[in-house]
Amino acid sequence: MSSQAIGVFDSGLGGLTAVKQLRAIMPHENIVYFGDTGRVPYGNRSAATISRYAKQDARFLLSHNVKMVIAACGTVSSTVLDLGQVLPVPYINVIAPTALAAVNATKNGRIGVIGTRATIGSGAYKKEIERLDSGVTVIQRECPLFVPIVEEGFISPDDEIARLSVERYLCYIKAHGVDTIILGCTHYPLLKPVIGQYVGADVKLIDSGKETAIYASKLLESRGLLNDSRNTGECSFFVSDRTEDFTSTASIFLNSNIGENVERVDIWNY
Ligand code: DGL
Repeated sequence: MSSQAIGVFDSGLGGLTAVKQLRAIMPHENIVYFGDTGRVPYGNRSAATISRYAKQDARFLLSHNVKMVIAACGTVSSTVLDLGQVLPVPYINVIAPTALAAVNATKNGRIGVIGTRATIGSGAYKKEIERLDSGVTVIQRECPLFVPIVEEGFISPDDEIARLSVERYLCYIKAHGVDTIILGCTHYPLLKPVIGQYVGADVKLIDSGKETAIYASKLLESRGLLNDSRNTGECSFFVSDRTEDFTSTASIFLNSNIGENVERVDIWNY
C-alpha cells in the first residue's frame, strides 16, 4: 500500500481529462499533475523535441516522489517509446489500454483512430491494434484543429465551427464504415457530443483517459501500490507558464472547480 502520489503529465491542460477519470476510478489516490503549458502544443513537433520535453516532464514528477508516471498525452504516448525504460517507477501511456479497449469493442473489425499530426504520423495505435488483432482494419485521420477548438470552448453540438470541423475531418473515417473510434488525444473527449452526433450513436467512442485510468488502477492493485487511506486524495497542479486563467481553463477539462491550487515551475531545470 502506498500513499505516494500518481504522477500525470501532459503537454498542457488537456491531460486533466485523464485526471478526471483517475479521480472517478481511484478517489483515494493523491495525484501530482504537470501540464507543460509553456511549450504546448507538442502535436506538431518533431519526435526528438517531444522526447526531450517528455523526459523533463517525467523527471519533474519523479522529484515529487511519485509511485507511477502516466503520460496522458496521446502525442507523447505514441512518439516517445523509450520512456518506460529510463524511469525507476512503473510508467504507462495511453496506447496499449486504449487499443485493447477498441479491439474488444469492435464488432465489424473496422476501427477509426483520430489524434494530432504526430500521433497519427507515428502509426502507434495502428501498430498496436494490428498486433492485438491482425484482422482489424484501421482508418486513421489527424485532426489538428480539434485542440484549439476545444480550448476556445467550442464544444457544443450546436456550435457551427465544431460541427463543420468534425464533419470535415471525420467524413473519411465515417465513409469507411467504422463501428469504433479511438479519441486519441487528451482534448477529444470534450468533443464527444459533436462527434457522436455526426457518426451516429452506434459508433463506440473510446476515451483514452478513461481506459488508461482503468489500466492504472489494475496495475497499482496488482503491485500492492494502491493507497489504503479512506480519505479523498489530494491533487497538486503544476504548469510551466502563467498560472492566471488556470482555474477557468482547467475547469473545462476537469468539469469541476479546483480552486487556485497551482504552481509554476521552470521545466528547463529538470
Ligand atoms: N495533449 C496532446 C495530445 O494528447 C494535445 C495537445 C498538443 O498538441 O500538445 O496529443
